[in-house]
Formats: sequence, structure tokens, C-alpha cells
Amino acid sequence: MHTAHRKAFLARLAETNSAAIIPTGDAPRRNGDSEYRYRPESDFVYLTGFREPNATLVLLPNRAEGKAVLFLQEKDPEREVWTGRRLGLNAAPETLGIDEARPIAALWDDLPALLEGHDRVVYQSGIDEVRDREMLHVFEVARGRKRRGGTAPSEWTDPDATLHELRLFKSDAELECMRKAAAVSVEAHIAAMREAAPGKNEGELDALLEYTFRRRGGTGASYSNIVAGGANACILHYVQNDAPLVDGELVLIDAGAEWNYYASDVTRTFPVNGRYSREQRALYEVVLAAQRAGIELVRPGGNANAVHDAAVDVLVDGLLDLGLLTGSKAEVLEQETYSRFYMHKTGHWLGLDVHDCGAYFIDGEPRAFEPGMVQTVEPGLYVAPDDTTVDERWRGIGIRIEDDVLVTKDGREVLTSDVPTEVDEIEAICAGR
Ligand code: GLY
Ligand code: MN
Ligand code: MN
Repeated sequence: MHTAHRKAFLARLAETNSAAIIPTGDAPRRNGDSEYRYRPESDFVYLTGFREPNATLVLLPNRAEGKAVLFLQEKDPEREVWTGRRLGLNAAPETLGIDEARPIAALWDDLPALLEGHDRVVYQSGIDEVRDREMLHVFEVARGRKRRGGTAPSEWTDPDATLHELRLFKSDAELECMRKAAAVSVEAHIAAMREAAPGKNEGELDALLEYTFRRRGGTGASYSNIVAGGANACILHYVQNDAPLVDGELVLIDAGAEWNYYASDVTRTFPVNGRYSREQRALYEVVLAAQRAGIELVRPGGNANAVHDAAVDVLVDGLLDLGLLTGSKAEVLEQETYSRFYMHKTGHWLGLDVHDCGAYFIDGEPRAFEPGMVQTVEPGLYVAPDDTTVDERWRGIGIRIEDDVLVTKDGREVLTSDVPTEVDEIEAICAGR
């Protein structure tokens, strides 16, 4: 899979005689001298499958001696005792299918000569300042070489138009990873529905999700789990996950397993005590209808804006019906008064990153869906606990329903459809059935 990605990207690069520099960093500091667990950068892992930190892939379509050069950590038995095994330079070419391995310490010094003969460089700036400064220096040195009669690249461009376009379209091998991620998420969400009960803590569900992701062989969670009981659901990126679950309230779980670094992104909202109240159910049914309307429009030729508009249309109908909004539908849509209850977009690309790369607009127009793209559909309604414009019984209810949808030749495939969304089915799972 990774060899195929490299080959496709090299072919793209050759069209404009561009080299590419694709780094991956190190685990960020957490506190004191502790670090977060390392997770490779997505562009890097897409092209190498290599899981060690402190490495950089350099692709050189115009170089006869070898087009794929990987800079990586050298073997160091003493360090490896502390920080883990290293593949090392000798084993890297055969293991990873690259042409040449060099020590990471030589990267910046080696680059000017390697880039010779290329007109441009693809490089993602703005991620790491130190790295960006080193790149500026590489260009400075390269300019010096040019003055002495060599050829050197004179500009760098970010990977949007090249690498990120490739990443947007998922191959069968990638979809296998995404299906696996989806399947693990399905299991985790169902387990959480069974586990929830009044008096338990959001943290217990958070831990159960993580446990399920990891025990099934996933690379972890695709993003920080959101386990939001009651009004915490109105905080869109609530990750504290440490409050008690309260009888009569809902719990919103937005959590997705990552498989071989491919993401899933799933949200369900279910009752802590296993039964939706009348108000919870009424709002839930509106969100579910909006999600169905949105999913229906994920198909070749559709686009994310149309999905969003369809979802908003259903949400607004529901809010007017239930009396949370007043006035005419045209007014509500025109003035966007619904945005008090629905303030985010209805979806995003999904892949190695949860908010995956790839342009959403082309020449200012929403981009048409094509087979192989994966898009989430995730409408919601959030009534703030202090919203005095609505009847008290609605306050503090937050609901989102999110699935991952693959665009196929004939329409779509919902990768995460095995977590039920119907009220009756969810209540049955909560009841242990
Ligand atoms: N979990 C982040 C999102 O749904 O976009
Ligand atoms: Mn999402
Ligand atoms: Mn999500």
C-alpha cells in the first residue's frame, strides 16, 4: 500500500520536476519530562508506513541513484534500551522498499545536494518552526550552489495540490483499514451503550472505548474521545470526560477507533438510564431525520454543501414544529436563527486524519463527490442549559449523530452503520439486549 502511494506521488512530482520533503517529528512533551505517545505524521506514514519518530522521506523524481531516500535514526543499542527498538539504516531499504537510507542527523546538510536538478520542492510549512527555519537555510545554500553554476529549486509549495489530492481518494487497501477502524468503533459504541448507567462516570465510558480500540489492535483513538453527559454535550469538543452520568440525561459519545493510522469518527447520543424522555426523543428524531437526508446526498455528483443544506432544512422544520424557533422557515434560513442550536458544519473528509486533507472547493464551487472519497455526516442540535428563549424542558439537551460514508460508483456505503441509530434499537442495546 505504501509503496503504491510513493509510486503515485513520485509520478505526480515528476510532472513538475518537483522534489518532496516529508518529515515526521517526535512525541510532544506532556508534562515534566513525560511525553505523549508518538503518532507519525499522516503524510509521512501514508508514504512509508514507518512508525518511528525523527525521520524524513525525501522523494527525488529526477535522481538516477535512487528516488526515495529515507533519513532515520541510526541504531544505538544504549538509547534503544530506553526509548525502543530502531529499524536502523541497514535494514530500512529492504523493509520499507526505499532506495537509500541515511542518518537523520545528516538531513539538513545533505538536502541542498540532493535537491540539485529539481525545480520545486513540495514541503508543508507551518507545522514546526525549527523545521521551517532549516528549510529556509536549505534554500539559501541551494541558491549559493546555483550562483556557482548548479541547478537548484527556487520555490516550495505545500502538498495540497499534489499529495493531499492523492490522499483524498482511498484505495481498496486503505478502505480495508477504514472498514476495520469502523468495525472497532461499532463494537466500542455498543459496549458503551451497554455500560452506561446513572451514577457511573463519563470516565468509565471513556476508558471502555479506549480499551476496546486497543484490545482489537487499533492504533488508538483517532482523536480525543468525547464522552459528554447532559449539558456537556452542548460543548462541541468536550474532552474532560470526568463528570457523573445523571439519571434522566443523555450522553453524547463522539469517539472513533484508528486502525493502522486510518480514522473513524462516530457519534451516538443515548439515554443514561436506557429510555429517551419525550423531549429527548423528539429532538433526537429530528437530528436522525436530518442525518438520513444528508446521507442520501452522499453520492457521485453530490457535494458537502448540498448535504449540509439538506440537513439544515430538516433541522429547521423540526425546530419550528417543536416550537423552539418561531417565524417563517424562509426567515429562519435567511437569518440563520437556527445557528443557536446548530453551529457546525455537517461533515468533513475522513482518512488518515480525522479532518482529512483534500480541497472542499474547486474554483469557488463546492467540490463534487467522487467514488473513493469518505465523508462524515454529523448533524446535531444543542440547546444551551441557559437558553431562556425556549421552554425549560428543552434546555441542556445536546444531540449529534455521526457516521462515516464512503462514496461509491452507484451511491454510498455507510461504513459505521452497524451502530444503530433508531431509538428503539438503541433502547434495546441499553437494556442489554
Ligand atoms: N470528532 C470530531 C468531529 O466530529 O469532527
Ligand atoms: Mn466528524
Ligand atoms: Mn466526531
